[in-house]
Amino acid sequence: MNSENRQHLPVGVFDSGIGGLTVAREIMRQMPNEKIVYFGDTARVPYGNKSRETVRKYSEQIVRFLLSQEVKAIVVACNTASAYALPEIEKHCPVPIIGVVEPGAKTAADITKVGRIGVIGTSATVSSGIYTECIRRILPDAQVLGRACPLFVPLVEEGLWEDPVTEEIARRYLQELMDEGIDTLILGCTHYPLIRRTIGKVVGESVQLVNPAYETARELQQLLAREDLLSEEAPALGSAESQYRFFVSDMAEKFRSFANSIIKYGILSAKMIHIEQY
Ligand code: DGL
Repeated sequence: MNSENRQHLPVGVFDSGIGGLTVAREIMRQMPNEKIVYFGDTARVPYGNKSRETVRKYSEQIVRFLLSQEVKAIVVACNTASAYALPEIEKHCPVPIIGVVEPGAKTAADITKVGRIGVIGTSATVSSGIYTECIRRILPDAQVLGRACPLFVPLVEEGLWEDPVTEEIARRYLQELMDEGIDTLILGCTHYPLIRRTIGKVVGESVQLVNPAYETARELQQLLAREDLLSEEAPALGSAESQYRFFVSDMAEKFRSFANSIIKYGILSAKMIHIEQY
C-alpha cells in the first residue's frame, strides 16, 4: 500500500488501562482528522510493578493486535511500556512507533530554569532511569530526581481523583522532591494527568507540571507528516463511534464509563478481546 492509501488508516494507541486515554484525548484534540484504535490492558493492569520481560511480552502481544487492525502508526501511551518494551519493539515494528518518554523529557529539559527536574512514575519507569538518560542527552548537567508513586495508579483507576486520601498520599510521595528544590515535575505515568489538580495543589505554583501527552501528540503529528501519513479527510459528522474504537482485555463496561468521563466524545462501546491470543 502506498502512503496515500495508508493515510486513512487509524493510529493505534495502547496502555495498561485507562491512563493512555489522556494521550488519546490529546491526539483527538490536535488531530481531529485521525482515527484511533485504542487498547487498554484492563485484565493485566498495573504494569508498573511487573518485570521487564513481562511488560515486553504484553506489549508485543498488543502491538500484534494493533497491527491486525491495520494501524498506520503506534503510540505507546504508557511510560512503563515505553521504558521497558519500546527499545526492542521499535527494532522490528513494520509501522512507525513512538512512546511518551522522549517527548516528556524534551519538554522538561526545555522549561526547567534551575536544572532540577522531578520525575514521578511507576516503580518500573523510575528504576529504569530512562527519563534521566533522555534529559541528560539534552541537558547534561541536569539533576533528575525520581520518585515511584505506586499507589497513584490504583487511586486513579478507582476514580479517587480529587479525594483527601489521594492528596495525603501525594504529600507523602512528593515532599522529598519539594525539599530538593525541583522547579519542574514530569508526570511520568499516563494515569497521573487525571490527578493533576491534586498533584498541583500539593507542589504549588512554583513547580511546573509536565504532561507528556501534549508533546507526544505533537510528535505524532510531525512523524505522520514526515511519512506522508497524515489524514486529510475530515470525519463525517456524528461519526465518533467509527472514528474511535476501543478494545480492552477485561471489564469493558467499567472502561467505557471511565472513558466517557475522560473523553468528550460519547464512547458508545468498548469491546473485550483475548489479548493472549495475539
Ligand atoms: N499508565 C502506565 C504508565 O504510564 C502504567 C500504569 C501501570 O500499569 O502501572 O506507566
